[in-house]
Amino acid sequence: MKTKDKNRQMRVINPGESLERFGDLEEFAIDVLVGLSEINKKLPSKYLYDAEGSRLFKEITRLMEYYPTECERETLENNKDRIVSHVADEPFNLVEFGSGDGQKTSLLLDHFLKLDLDFQYAPIDISQSAMVELFDDLDQKFPSLRVEGIVSEYFSGIRWLNNRSDRKNLVLFLGSNIGNFSHAEARIFLRNLWSCLNNGDLVLVGFDLKKDIEMLLKAYNDSEGVTAKFNLNILTRINRELGGQFDLSKFRHFGTYDVFTGAMESYLVSLERQEVFIEEIGRSFSFRPWEPIHVEYSYKYLQSDIEILAKETGFKVREHLHDSKKYFIDSIWEVKKTENNNSQG
Ligand SMILES: C[S@@+](CC[C@H](N)C(=O)[O-])C[C@H]1O[C@@H](n2cnc3c(N)ncnc32)[C@H](O)[C@@H]1O
Repeated sequence: MKTKDKNRQMRVINPGESLERFGDLEEFAIDVLVGLSEINKKLPSKYLYDAEGSRLFKEITRLMEYYPTECERETLENNKDRIVSHVADEPFNLVEFGSGDGQKTSLLLDHFLKLDLDFQYAPIDISQSAMVELFDDLDQKFPSLRVEGIVSEYFSGIRWLNNRSDRKNLVLFLGSNIGNFSHAEARIFLRNLWSCLNNGDLVLVGFDLKKDIEMLLKAYNDSEGVTAKFNLNILTRINRELGGQFDLSKFRHFGTYDVFTGAMESYLVSLERQEVFIEEIGRSFSFRPWEPIHVEYSYKYLQSDIEILAKETGFKVREHLHDSKKYFIDSIWEVKKTENNNSQG
C-alpha cells in the first residue's frame, strides 16, 4: 500500500512488495499451533497489536499507573537538544522500530523540523493500522516532513535498513520495547541491528529500570482493567482471524514479576477445564483449570545491565538520558566497527 501524496514522499510498504511474508494467516496459525502445543503454553506478543490492540495500547499509555510513557516523554522533551547534538552535523535517517502512534517521537520531529535539520523519518511497525494512523497524524502535524514508513516485523525492518541510503542513521527503539525480548533475544536483536548499521551510526534505546515491585505490579494490572482487555484481545483476534472458539469470560489476565529474571510477565489464565477448537488449525486445545498462557515479557534493567549489553553487542554508550524520577533511561549508543569486524556479528 502506498499513500497518495507523493509530494510528501510518504509511503507504507507492504511485506508483499519488498519483504518476506509476515503476519499472514498461515504464519499466525502456525505460531498459535506451536505456542499452544507447548507444555507451558504461550502466544507471541507481536500478535497483540491488531487494530484493537494498538488502540488499547494507546489507552494504556494514558493511564496514571502506567508510568513508562510519561517518563520517556519527559526524558525526550527535556533532552531534545542533547539528542540534536549527536546528529546535527550531517544529513540523517531517523529510523524507528515499533513506532506505534509516534506520540513521543513527534516531540523530536517537531524540534528537528524547527531547527531545519536535514533528515527523513522511517517508522517501522508490524501493525498496519497503527502505521496508517501514524501517517494521518503526521500529515496533519508535519505536512513538510519526509516519511518512508514500513509495515513489517523488526527483523525484516532491519534487513530493509541494510539497503538504505548512505546517510547516517539514528535508530529509535522507544517505549521499552526492548524489554519484550529475553536477555538472549535482546543480544541477538541488537547484534543484528549492529551488523546492518555503519560505524558511527546511532541508536537510542528506551529501557525501563528495575524499581519498586508494587509499582511494577500496578502498572501491569491497572485498576481500570485496560491491560487485561489488551491481553485478552489476542484471543478475540484468534477467534476472528483463525475461527477460534475462545470464550473470553473463561480466561483472566494475570500480571506478575519474576524477581530472578527481573521481568514483568503477563499471562491469560484458564478459569476452568475446557477445550477450545480453532478452525484454521483444525483441532482443539485442552486447558486445565488455572492453566496459564504466557503472552508478554517486559524485562527491567539496571544501568549496569545496559552498559554490559551495549558492550557485548558492539556499541559504545554515548550517554544515558533519565527522567526526573530515574524510572527510565533512554540510552544513546554509537556503532563501533573496526576494519576486522566490519561486516558480521
Ligand atoms: C509497546 S508499543 C510501543 C509504541 C511506541 N514505540 C511507544 O513507545 O509508545 C509496541 C509497538 O511495537 C510494535 N511491534 C510489536 N512487536 C513488533 C515486532 N515484532 N515487529 C515490529 N513491530 C512490533 C507494535 O505494533 C506496537 O506499535
